[in-house]
Amino acid sequence: MSQLWGGRFEGGLDPAFDSFNRSLPFDRRLLRDDIAGSLAWAGALGEAGVLTDGEVAQLTSALEELGRDIATDPAPLDASEAEDVHSFVEGALAQRVGELAKKLHTGRSRNDQVATDLKLFLKRTVPDLIGALADLAGALVELAEKTAGLPLPGYTHLQRAQPITAGHHALAYVEMLARDRSRLVDAMRRMDTSPLGAGALAGTAFPVDREALAASLGFAGGPTRNSLDAVSDRDHVLELTFTCSVILVHLSRLAEDWIFFASQEAGFLMFTDAVSTGSSLMPQKRNPDAMELVRGKTGRVVGALTGLLVLCKGLPLAYDKDLQEDKEALFGALDTTLACTRVTAICVRNVEYDAERCRAACAVGYLDATDLADLLVNAGVPFRDAHARVGTAVREAVKRGIELTELSEELQRELFPELEVDLSAALATEAVLARRSTIGGTAPDRVRAEALAWKQELASWK
Ligand code: ARG
Repeated sequence: MSQLWGGRFEGGLDPAFDSFNRSLPFDRRLLRDDIAGSLAWAGALGEAGVLTDGEVAQLTSALEELGRDIATDPAPLDASEAEDVHSFVEGALAQRVGELAKKLHTGRSRNDQVATDLKLFLKRTVPDLIGALADLAGALVELAEKTAGLPLPGYTHLQRAQPITAGHHALAYVEMLARDRSRLVDAMRRMDTSPLGAGALAGTAFPVDREALAASLGFAGGPTRNSLDAVSDRDHVLELTFTCSVILVHLSRLAEDWIFFASQEAGFLMFTDAVSTGSSLMPQKRNPDAMELVRGKTGRVVGALTGLLVLCKGLPLAYDKDLQEDKEALFGALDTTLACTRVTAICVRNVEYDAERCRAACAVGYLDATDLADLLVNAGVPFRDAHARVGTAVREAVKRGIELTELSEELQRELFPELEVDLSAALATEAVLARRSTIGGTAPDRVRAEALAWKQELASWK
């Protein structure tokens, strides 16, 4: 009997339902955690006087040996027909210690077991994602240092608005990643409680020291306080998948910006060969597939979040088998987010701005109009009047097909009698950028200082 619950049944499972019911193909990822949880549970049963010291020692060495064996050769796991990872571990244990294996499940349920395993899994794997975010943020900060003084057209409504620096653009994404990291850290802190000992739903009838058990598993927040909630809570699964979705929403915005920047229409940057692909038909093509895939994969993760929210909506307390569906969605979201974060970091390290094109793009299209109005304000004109007068000047310039700096001297004197400055110097892109040096602004010096501040902050992320 490979099942853990055969006693009250006479017939076998329909084969189609059997495979439908099985979670081993995906929950095998929890093997290490299931063994860790079982080791701790064996110890707790020993402390409670349910198992003898000798029994605990035997179970402990068999569980440790099982972990080592499967790490070197997963063939038994591949070949297993067990229902889930918990059944597999118990079956493999029975092969090693015989009848004693049947005592390990005393006072425990797969419900508190799987809830514990999943949290242990997240505690050991989410740090990889946090590390990947740190690496990506580091790559963006390096790019920001290199491009702190590089002018780039800034957009609102996808219409050219004012010049910014490419470094400022890169650091905008560092801000997003910093919030994402704090979301992950926060979710991890909130989920840091041990469900083990909650039983199937009502708690365990054996005198297990749940405080000590939680501590032995490394749960800083101690044991969960309500057994019904403990076995049915998947808030951490929702929160982490939400955070993955937000990370990918951020990465897909970067992807979108850069895919546009790499277009012939913009021509602001190029991806190196390392992250570009060609066309099977059109020999001239150079496609930004890496960033397009990141943008595209965002859909799956948002889909996983939607699926999980709907999964949990309206589920009655406490455990329901529906919850088995949490794992594939969560694992997929974590895997996809990690892969996208790593590939995006590679893209950041393989992007080359075309300084000349960027500079040229900032010099046309009246991106200096706001600064001309600001010059009038400095000469005492109320901003609203200045805005209207510059608007008129733009209209005249458009009619003539020229820039504001190219207005004839007569026209300039007629429109702006109070201005005595050399407009081409005052409205040069460098001058426009340098003026925006207050906190949060795009001025090159400000961006350099911000990049340095981020470098120091990132050092504490590790
Ligand atoms: N495979 C199950 C899951 O992932 C384990 C818990 C099963 N519990 C039960 N009462 N059938 O949720």
